[in-house]
Amino acid sequence: MAAPFYITTPIYYVNARPHLGHAYTTIVADVVNRFQSMSREQTYFLTGTDEHGDKIVRAAKKENCTPREYVDKISGLFSSLWPEMNISNNAFIRTTDPSHIAVVESILQRIYDAGDIYFAEYEGLYCFGCERFYTERELVDGRCPDHQTPPETIKESNYFFKMSRYQQWLIDYINANPDFIRPERYKNEVLAFLREPLGDLCISRPKSRLKWGITLPFDHDYVTYVWFDALLNYVSALGYPDGELYHTFWPVAQHVVAKDILKPHGIYWPIMLKAAGLPIYQHLNVHGYWNVDQSKMSKSIGNVIEPLEMKNIYGLDAFRFFLMRDMAFGLDSNFSEEALVGRINADLANDLGNLFSRVLSMAHKYFKGVVPEPALDVEKEMDLGLAQKARNAIDAYAANMDTFAFHKALAAVWEFITHMNKYVDITAPWTLAKNKAAHKQLETVIYNLLEGLRIISGLIYPVMPDTATSMQKHLGLDGDDAFYKMDRLTIWGGLTPGIKLKKSISLFPRVELKDRQQKNQSAESESAMASPIKPEITIDDFAKVDLRVATVISAQAVPRAKKLLQLEVDLGEKRTIVSGIAGSYDPESLVGKQVIVVANLKPAKLMGVLSKGMLIAASDDSGVTVATLDKPVKAGTPLS
Ligand code: ME8
Ligand code: MG
Repeated sequence: MAAPFYITTPIYYVNARPHLGHAYTTIVADVVNRFQSMSREQTYFLTGTDEHGDKIVRAAKKENCTPREYVDKISGLFSSLWPEMNISNNAFIRTTDPSHIAVVESILQRIYDAGDIYFAEYEGLYCFGCERFYTERELVDGRCPDHQTPPETIKESNYFFKMSRYQQWLIDYINANPDFIRPERYKNEVLAFLREPLGDLCISRPKSRLKWGITLPFDHDYVTYVWFDALLNYVSALGYPDGELYHTFWPVAQHVVAKDILKPHGIYWPIMLKAAGLPIYQHLNVHGYWNVDQSKMSKSIGNVIEPLEMKNIYGLDAFRFFLMRDMAFGLDSNFSEEALVGRINADLANDLGNLFSRVLSMAHKYFKGVVPEPALDVEKEMDLGLAQKARNAIDAYAANMDTFAFHKALAAVWEFITHMNKYVDITAPWTLAKNKAAHKQLETVIYNLLEGLRIISGLIYPVMPDTATSMQKHLGLDGDDAFYKMDRLTIWGGLTPGIKLKKSISLFPRVELKDRQQKNQSAESESAMASPIKPEITIDDFAKVDLRVATVISAQAVPRAKKLLQLEVDLGEKRTIVSGIAGSYDPESLVGKQVIVVANLKPAKLMGVLSKGMLIAASDDSGVTVATLDKPVKAGTPLS
């Protein structure tokens, strides 16, 4: 048996509910874990939640609860989602676990004692959203590239980790281990970062600013920077430094992350490990983003995909299959329910589902539901290359699964499924059945088809575990765990003649595209949160905002965005404005209304529609209400 295998997901921030993106990464790790367990005795799969830092404090405040209450609640949403997604994780770590905190303290002390942490005063540009300092060069138009907000200049004394000392070591390490970071584009991205001088990393936050964190063991006035804390989860969860799990699994660690957190994983983390004297992880596997209908998923657009909703409408295995089949790991992909429905109907209902029910029905019709014995003397004659096609599919599948090319692995399986369907058409068992002299041929054909299904069921097991289990039950292979082991699965002829098959079923009924608009009407409306008064501004600051009265000329829904309406308004000139008020207004009811618009807001594209300006509205628990005037005025009148 092969070496042990260890896979991790990022530990997700508990500042928002789990969505499609979190589900994808976790399903990828699950698929890989299940696949690797088919050829290994020991695998370990870790996920969890990242619970410290001011992002969390701010989210808790908004919800009027303590950080502790808040993290317990949201972490619970993640830990209870994973069983629903059939996630086979062995452990779920929280960075508020005492055992994790102890490991962070011990590693900090170790690096401090080794002289790689120093104290210094620092003034810099800080983004509160990212909880990190930015250099001028990293900003885009003076703003944080992630949050589009200008950073604040702050000055404070802090502890720094001497990353710069390890820059050359890391470059050499990456060059010596070309698939350390994969796919290659992300290795190149990290190497490009490393062509510029690497600054030291600020790893503390003064308690005067942030208390929700792990206290530095060598200075109790500071807490640990959230990334320095979070990355260590990958070893603390294994019981570093003495745990048996740590000794077994750390040397073979593989991480899965999206490109948003490439830098901490590709640069900070290996350097932290090196400085602390720990072995470096084996692979960092980096994927792209899921966009929705060509836009970034976001709460305010209302296009966030809820994994449980997808499961409830389309079925878990279909959802998992779509995610693995449609994204080329490493590249961005677009999620749309049209595409999901297309895959279900073509690949699952048609290709696989029909094949399965067709073959089982024939086995029942011709052999009373018992696996027939293939006739040796006709095997060659009736094989038509099927066994070889299976072998090719298995090889291509395994090689692609090993390198995270899931879409290619599944394409190889579907090539075999297509071949199986052709085999049915070419051998025409219904014709053989009419001819007594062809009985041996019929036995062999049906045996081959059942055998092909057995192999398919094993190959799809990592991606669609429930479907695989159901197929195997129907093939009479009930409860045989070892069946999922690659070495048994892949021998042609593994199905024992004489075993009893179950009645044929439809694995995947065809589905229709449901109307998202309707479906989402029952979805919970976002609760309005009491928001504190913003910092004082001058009259000149306010004068920069060009508020105008506008008359609504027409309004219509934006397809697939449950919250958005597209308005044509007259504010002296005609404008298109997209506004998140669909939940509270019928488009027609707005026509003729006079509304207030921020006329000089930088245009932005929302769900493919360019919005030039913004409608002023208030929202609370009861919904959204647009601001209007006391009596009609001329369109375009400025407000002051
Ligand atoms: O970054 N497409 O947590 P996070 C694909 N706590 N994947 C997506 C995605 C999308 N649109 N959106 C999110 C953090 N993800 C840190 C990690 S690890 C030591 C600390 C997935 O809640 C993807 O895996 O912001 C991404 O890397 C991760 O969620 C970010 O999760
Ligand atoms: Mg994030």
